[in-house]
Amino acid sequence: MKKITIGGEVPASEIALGFWRLAEMSVADASRLVKTALDEGIDFFDHADVYGAGKSETMFAKAAGFTPSRREKVVLQSKCGIRLEDGTYFDFSRDHIVSAAEAILRRLDTEYLDILLLHRPDALVEPEEVAEAFATLHAAGKVRYFGVSNQRPNQMELLRKCCNHKIVANQLQFSITNSGMVDSGLATNMEFAQSVNHDGDVLDYCRLHNITIQAWSPFQYGDFKGSFLGNRELYPGLNDVIDKLAREKGVTNTAIAAAWILRHPARIQVIVGTSKPQRVKDACAASGIELTRPEWYALWKAAGNTLP
Ligand SMILES: NC(=O)c1ccc[n+]([C@@H]2O[C@H](COP(=O)([O-])OP(=O)(O)OC[C@H]3O[C@@H](n4cnc5c(N)ncnc54)[C@H](OP(=O)(O)O)[C@@H]3O)[C@@H](O)[C@H]2O)c1
Repeated sequence: MKKITIGGEVPASEIALGFWRLAEMSVADASRLVKTALDEGIDFFDHADVYGAGKSETMFAKAAGFTPSRREKVVLQSKCGIRLEDGTYFDFSRDHIVSAAEAILRRLDTEYLDILLLHRPDALVEPEEVAEAFATLHAAGKVRYFGVSNQRPNQMELLRKCCNHKIVANQLQFSITNSGMVDSGLATNMEFAQSVNHDGDVLDYCRLHNITIQAWSPFQYGDFKGSFLGNRELYPGLNDVIDKLAREKGVTNTAIAAAWILRHPARIQVIVGTSKPQRVKDACAASGIELTRPEWYALWKAAGNTLP
C-alpha cells in the first residue's frame, strides 16, 4: 500500500476505510473488516459523530480494540458540525466544536484524534470561533490536525484568515461518475454542461495550498443513488471500459475505479465505505497499479464526459 502525507503533515495509506454505512454491523463483523484493512496496509479510519448518531464510533472502538501501541500506528479521523437534535442543522460554534470533539474521543475510546474535520459548511460560521475551538483542542492534546469537508476555496480562506492551524484535508465527493472537480477545468468557458464550475476550482486550490483531498463515495453515482460498478443499465459503456481494464490488469472493477482516483497527481486519498472484507482487498489492489493517461481519459469519457 502506497503512502501519502495528508496536508504535508500526516503520513497515511492512500486508501482509507470509512464508517458511515457501518453503524449496524456486529462487532465481530466489523472486527474482521478492520483486521482485513490493516492486513492490506490501510492505517487510516474515517468517522463522523453523526454516523449512526454516534453508534458507529462506539462500535469501531470495540471492533478495533487497539492497544495503546497499536493506536499510535493508525490515523483516526472524525468530523463534527452536523447536529441532529431540534431538526438537522450545522454548527461551527466554538462550544459545539469543542464538546463534539470531546464526545468523539469518549466514543472512540482514545486520548486524541489525529484529524478533526468540519463536516459541512455552516452558513453562520464565525471563523474566530472556529480558531478558538481548534486552539483549545490542540492545546489540550485532544486533536493533532484539522481539516474540512465539502468546502469551497473561499470558505477555507475565511477559516485560514483566523486559524493558526493548517487545514490539512478537504473531504469531497469524487468518483469517475462524480468528477466535477476535473470536468470544468477541461472545458473552461465553453458552452456545454460540464464547463459549469460548481466548486470554485477546489481541486486547484487544494493543490496550491497542499491540502489533501479525500474522495468520499468513490464507487457511487449521483446523490447516494448506488454503485456505478456493474450498473449496466445506467453505465453500460463505462462498465465495458472498466471491465476491459480489469481483465487486462488482473484486478477487479473496484480496483480500476479506485485507481482512476489515485492516478490524479493531486495524490487524492480514497475513502472506501464497503462492509465486505473482499471489497476492501479489491480496492487495495488499486494501490499497485497506475493507469496510463489514455486509460484515465478513456474512463472519464466513458462516464459521459466530452473533451473539447
Ligand atoms: N464528508 C462527507 O460528507 C461524506 C459523505 C459520504 C461519505 N463519506 C465518507 O466516505 C466513506 C465512503 O463513502 P461511501 O460508503 O458512499 O463509499 P463507497 O465505497 O463508494 O460505497 C460503499 C457502498 O457501495 C457498495 N458497493 C461497493 N462496491 C460495490 C460494487 N462493486 N457493487 C455494488 N455495490 C458496491 C457497498 O456495498 P457493500 O457494503 O455490500 O460492499 C456500500 O454499500 C464513508 O464511509 C464516509 O466515511 C463522507
